[in-house]
Amino acid sequence: MTGIQNCIVFEPPFVVTHIMRGKNVVVLTGAGVSAESGVKTFRDNDGLWENHRIEDVATPQAWQADPKLVWKFYQARRRQMNEVEPNSAHVAIAKLESELDNFTLVTQNVDDLHERGGSSLVIHMHGRLQTLRCEKTEQTEHRMADDDLNDDYAYCNCCVNAHRMRPDIVWFGEMPMEMEEIYESVESCDFFIVVGSSGHVYPAAGMVNVAKSVGAHTILVNYEMPINGSDFDEIHLGKAGEILPKLVEDWLMR
Ligand code: APR
Repeated sequence: MTGIQNCIVFEPPFVVTHIMRGKNVVVLTGAGVSAESGVKTFRDNDGLWENHRIEDVATPQAWQADPKLVWKFYQARRRQMNEVEPNSAHVAIAKLESELDNFTLVTQNVDDLHERGGSSLVIHMHGRLQTLRCEKTEQTEHRMADDDLNDDYAYCNCCVNAHRMRPDIVWFGEMPMEMEEIYESVESCDFFIVVGSSGHVYPAAGMVNVAKSVGAHTILVNYEMPINGSDFDEIHLGKAGEILPKLVEDWLMR
């Protein structure tokens, strides 16, 4: 165990004494939780942003300027969803949910691996790959049939004259989803746990400070020290799929 600034960094074998039963727990996940399933993160070596410029594929301006490029980028990621499986970190988080009465899972991830790992209530603050959004009405539809996954545009079922659909993704410059509900949970939590996020993207990266301001104990599980590491009370460095199952077991001890 080593002390870095104001937080404690745990290295295996670690000792954890928190009992989370009866407490309000919020978990916020990022791309790192899906890394061991084979889904690329954004900012690691060979991450998505090493091969693509954010401005070219993840902004409303990019969709305006070159929708075909943006569409192909997200279609490739939508197709990949059919090839990957949840890993033991997703399952451990689902176990935490199933054992606690007051639990909220917020994810920045647009995949459905938390749901397939057993989580029943997942707040996708950056949208979802499985759904598409009508450009005219903004209604979303679950569209994962084979026909929906090729590189041709998809058209909605909600309008009389079907309109083109866009990825149901929160792009840079757009408002994240369900923020009111998220802040309500964070502002009343006893434990705030972040798994697999580099802390670069706000407002997600700032939620640890909101949790701290209401006296919550803040915990990070991440492969390496993130940019906002010093905001956490307790840090566990390593692969989430390897260390989270044991942590969850400890947190749920009676
Ligand atoms: N276990 C735990 N953490 C891991 C693992 C793993 N197996 N593999 C990688 N990580 C960590 C990395 O060390 C990194 O700190 O996960 C973090 C992933 O960071 P990012 O790629 O920046 O992903 P994220 O924080 O989720 O990005 C936030 O940025 O581009 C946007 O909208 C996109 O939702 C995304 C947002």
